Amino acid sequence: VKNDRESMMAVSGFAQKYFSQMLLKSDEGRSVGLSYLRARGFRDDIIQKFDLGYSPEARSALTDEAIKNSFKLEFLEKTGLTIVRDDYKADRFRGRVIFPIHSISGKPTAFGGRILKSDAKAAKYLNSPESEIYHKSKILYGIYQAKTEITKKDNCYLVEGYTDVISFHQAGIINVVASSGTALTVDQIRLIARFTPNITIIYDGDPAGIKASLRGIDLVLEQGMNVKVLLLPEGEDPDSFAKRRNAQELQKYISENEGDFIKFKTGLLLKDAEKDPVKRAGLLQDIVKTISVIPDVIVRGEYIKECSALMNVKEQVLYNEIGKLTRKGR
Ligand code: CTP
Ligand code: MN
Ligand code: MN
Ligand code: MN
Ligand code: MN
Repeated sequence: VKNDRESMMAVSGFAQKYFSQMLLKSDEGRSVGLSYLRARGFRDDIIQKFDLGYSPEARSALTDEAIKNSFKLEFLEKTGLTIVRDDYKADRFRGRVIFPIHSISGKPTAFGGRILKSDAKAAKYLNSPESEIYHKSKILYGIYQAKTEITKKDNCYLVEGYTDVISFHQAGIINVVASSGTALTVDQIRLIARFTPNITIIYDGDPAGIKASLRGIDLVLEQGMNVKVLLLPEGEDPDSFAKRRNAQELQKYISENEGDFIKFKTGLLLKDAEKDPVKRAGLLQDIVKTISVIPDVIVRGEYIKECSALMNVKEQVLYNEIGKLTRKGR
């Protein structure tokens, strides 16, 4: 007999195949879902590589089909595929384009569903709830498709969303994963650490993306890993940015514009801090605080050297400040 987990994995696998059939083979899926994805510039081979799908508008199309195939309502509900009320059952993702979220071994354990029309009332994305087989703080979107290349390149690009990952693949950059909108967690960083100690954060070029990058920097450094940041032009995200460039242009922009966290922070803040001694001191404190979370003293020393040169401050002063912070126990 199957345990709950196995039953949930099985029904998720069924749902993924069903959604993908609907997208590629049904009239509704092709005219609504597939045309949406193509209009956004996603190629068919990439649509298939990520097992993208479509959930029909009809209230319980997936649920009915699954039950007809002997899957139990219990597990449709436990995976969040079906929303069950007293005498009402409905597919969670109906009318949406589906992004399956694969486990590290490539099994679909959860789904993200994007709305097709812009509708202020409905959420742009719906996601599977936490379940026995899906812990969103422990998984990264795209890790299954990216892991071999992350090892090969010894680097991992970290982006915000589903379409960011997919567009990078389409542009030939395969070593990329997404935190899927949620705040990056230590478990997610440790997942990347299984393949490389080097992370490059490329979040959206908006205030939320910058804020999330700053938080991500400290988290990655605390894990003893190396972090670079790439700031995109305002209003761009990796998807929109990649779409308007060919692979070489994208690669070139990344290598010319990615920088370590000190350059990122100074670049972000030094403009208005340069002439203002109070702001300058604030920026310095901020950088010092981030350096102080790095566990390795040698690595720390390298960043102190760089910060000293960039900010024109004696290394000894920085060591003193970091000493104060670490003695306080942060
Ligand atoms: N997200 C979510 N629920 C929302 C909005 C966002 O789960 N209501 C997650 C999704 O994983 C999304 C990511 O956060 O991919 C980044 O959000 P956003 O930048 O708003 O979306 P994009 O990925 O840019 O999606 P699109 O290009 O389709 O608008
Ligand atoms: Mn569990
Ligand atoms: Mn965003
Ligand atoms: Mn975005
Ligand atoms: Mn986008």
